[in-house]
Amino acid sequence: VIEKPFGHDLESSQELNDLVTEVFAPEDVFRIDHYLGKETVQNLLSLRFSNELYEPLWNSDHIDHVQITMAENIGIGSRAGYYDGVGSAKDVIQNHLLQLLALTAMEEPVSFSPHDLRQEKEKVLSALDFFGPVDQSAIRAQYSEGWQGGKFVKAYLDEENIPADSVTDTYAALRLAVRTRRWQGVPFYVRTGKRLARRVTEITIVFKRPNFLPFEQRVTAGQSNNTLVIRIQPDEGVTFRFGVKVPGASFNVRDVTMDFSYGHAFTEYTPEAYERLILDVLLGEPPLFPQQKEVEESWKILDRAFEYWDTLDTIDTYPPGSWGPLSSDHMLARDGRAWRRA
Ligand code: BG6
Repeated sequence: VIEKPFGHDLESSQELNDLVTEVFAPEDVFRIDHYLGKETVQNLLSLRFSNELYEPLWNSDHIDHVQITMAENIGIGSRAGYYDGVGSAKDVIQNHLLQLLALTAMEEPVSFSPHDLRQEKEKVLSALDFFGPVDQSAIRAQYSEGWQGGKFVKAYLDEENIPADSVTDTYAALRLAVRTRRWQGVPFYVRTGKRLARRVTEITIVFKRPNFLPFEQRVTAGQSNNTLVIRIQPDEGVTFRFGVKVPGASFNVRDVTMDFSYGHAFTEYTPEAYERLILDVLLGEPPLFPQQKEVEESWKILDRAFEYWDTLDTIDTYPPGSWGPLSSDHMLARDGRAWRRA
């Protein structure tokens, strides 16, 4: 059982794998990415493939873009030894967020056997690319000092055991593309960070506006794109934002939210991610564990981001308790879009 990170770049992940496969057969190796053990992550599959509503719309004809956010309000705590030199992109995007992206973007698997499921994820990860030039599609930053939740907190560089000249990212955002017919022209924005405004992980599917509206412009002026939000944690659930008529004599449309919450809908016990994964290891059940090929494809993207970041001497900063650096907002603004206020 190997806990991530699986190496620190493509080459080291291959070395690690060579070492492991000298001793163990592939079916005896379990790479843990604890996000795959989360109930809400597995629900992505049932949402997409057990319902009629979503799959026909799940493509570039109807989807404008996708956002995947994993935000934390904590700093690095006492993990300097592990964290410095690794950073948020390698700690979270390479594994958790690219796995979420793969599950969001993949084709319907022929069956839910481990082989078929992993094959579909692997195809997405092999089709991953940056959406545009890397230097306009990869943002990294570090938290500065400031007030967060009524407490004054240290800058990353002032945390214990962090070298004063560290350029390790505590925030990273990538603009990615999945080079397939289904996702042609649809950017996938992924972001993660420490010391952000709050702890939340969610996948946001932003649909296109209708290509024709039989109303005067003012009627729908208060309406934005239909949006499906899959909340991985906390307040696990799914929300859908769509326009309805505002009650009254005039005709105006405004956005409302339809909300499904696990807490309200179910009384069943939700196992912790690790609980589920460790049980699967004991039972020898592999579908929730990424394979080496998926790991390697994910590193290829991260290695390209780092090739660019390594040419920079400086790193952006962002205030604690914020939603990250302005450069990240600008990356979306240039595309005429904005991060969802999670
Ligand atoms: C781990 C990262 O994989 O995930 C940590 O190494 C991060 O830096 C943690 O805090 C977050 O996990 P969760 O389940 O709380 O979102």
